[in-house]
Amino acid sequence: MRTRVGSLDDLKEHGHLLAKAGGHGVCVFWDGGRAWALDDRCPHMGFPLHRGTVDQGLVTCHWHHARFDLATGATLDPFADDGRAFPVEIDAGDVFLVVEPGEDQVGLLRRRLREGLEQGLTLVTAKSVLGLLESGVDPTDIVRVGLELGTANRREGWGAGLTVLVAMANLLPWLDADDVAPALVHGLAFVSRDTRNHPPAFSLTPLGGNGEVAVPPERLASWYRRFIETRSGAAAERVLVTQVATGRPPDEVAATMLAAATDHVFLDGGHTLDFTNKAFEALELLGWDLAAAVLPTVVDQTAAATRSEEGGRWRHPHDLVALVRRTEARLMAAVATGGPGIDDPTGVSDLGWRLLGDDPVAVAEALCEAADEGATAEQLGRALALAAGLRITRFHTQNELGDWDTVHHGFTAANALHQCLRRHRSPEAVRGVVHGALKVYLDRFLNVPAARLPLGGTGDLADLQGCWDTQGGVDRAGAIAYGFLEGGGDPRQLIAILAHCLLGEDAQFHWYQTVEAAVAQYSAWPEGSNEGALLLAGTARFLAAHTPTRRELPQVVRIAARLRRGEDLFEAE
Ligand code: FES
Repeated sequence: MRTRVGSLDDLKEHGHLLAKAGGHGVCVFWDGGRAWALDDRCPHMGFPLHRGTVDQGLVTCHWHHARFDLATGATLDPFADDGRAFPVEIDAGDVFLVVEPGEDQVGLLRRRLREGLEQGLTLVTAKSVLGLLESGVDPTDIVRVGLELGTANRREGWGAGLTVLVAMANLLPWLDADDVAPALVHGLAFVSRDTRNHPPAFSLTPLGGNGEVAVPPERLASWYRRFIETRSGAAAERVLVTQVATGRPPDEVAATMLAAATDHVFLDGGHTLDFTNKAFEALELLGWDLAAAVLPTVVDQTAAATRSEEGGRWRHPHDLVALVRRTEARLMAAVATGGPGIDDPTGVSDLGWRLLGDDPVAVAEALCEAADEGATAEQLGRALALAAGLRITRFHTQNELGDWDTVHHGFTAANALHQCLRRHRSPEAVRGVVHGALKVYLDRFLNVPAARLPLGGTGDLADLQGCWDTQGGVDRAGAIAYGFLEGGGDPRQLIAILAHCLLGEDAQFHWYQTVEAAVAQYSAWPEGSNEGALLLAGTARFLAAHTPTRRELPQVVRIAARLRRGEDLFEAE
């Protein structure tokens, strides 16, 4: 479509003319003896480019001084994003703007998303995410972009960024519609931060090239454990990629990795199990075809992980490692017989409360008794996650702030283990329940004295905002959350509000993990359960203990949303 903008004489005299194209303001500039047209809104934050300076084929925006090529609209300052250029024709002394059918917007936005992530430009990332969602792109496709970037560009392997990204992907079904884009941006911003200035990862090829291997599957599995045991990360990785390339079933691959992740006690403070679980959750979400790219990212760190039996806490004053070894054997034997499951409705919960005891032998005995009575691996894992979550719900504010991390690690590792036990059949992984239970035992001092359970709150969720906005609202937040559920409130509403709080802050890695684990564990119990209510109340306490922050990342997301709506940020509200 051709639109007359004005006369050539006017253009030469004024240096620019303004026009409209499909609801957009367009500016036609005169420079170097010819006409050029660009979208008049600066792609950075919307300042009118016609108020900028034109010189030697460039227009410089007068707000943050980004420069744009008049011929293409592309920026010389990547923080600002590329603009759009339009063809101009001069015909018999008149200037015409030519508006052709739009570019491939989705393709363009995908490219910009990728560039935003690579260059750490959160505003570009946020604008791209909003644009892609508005174009109908499935959020899972956006997660995939982050996952592909994060796995290929971090030689250290799976880290906090990918963990946050997958945690946010898991939370999406629980969020208010307006929080979907912020959740994706938070996850992607973490991936970007985690990969910038890191060397890329180069994958190893499978044994025998691509799938012709004479090694029996059982031997591959035993090799993998042996190489992790001897901290031979590269050897273990080559075995793993061979398992994947030869089409071994996901359950078999998972069982191999989980066995290795529980051959030693509470590896890397729980991070090994956390990262392994998240890698499998990513594959559950995006498809097993990514296994060869995703799973190797956790191998090196599994091999290098600290082993808790090397630490003094696990040796003195009680030799917890000896207790672990005795209990593991009993527990594996009992679970291997395939018990029918505890059918007493309060049985799993009762076990969880018993795991909070202050005698490690009694804690181990409680697990074995439950297994002897037929508890499944899933039930043992759920009881452990409840116990670990109650350490947060009962965390006393007299403790130091940093101690929240201690109970957080126990909880998120227990949740990761529970998700693995629920998803995969792995006889060895049940040993992780023993490790987790004794980690919960070791953290008992953080419940001395135990904070009172959050009973008798007002239950008005509107009051939670006050707990996020000022310090000191820990117990109050727990009481409000618990009171709301006790009064028959909709748990989805509470979860959406907890997630909204998370996304409204400059949240740290542990916060995302805690909120997501609490939602996963809430879902593991029957609708309306007291256990679920206590876990969510604990999460409200955790959030209130850490808020408020400067809230910079949410501000970037808000700016991006206003720009997408076409608002003028440069004018006072
Ligand atoms: S550089 Fe143009 S609005 Fe920031």
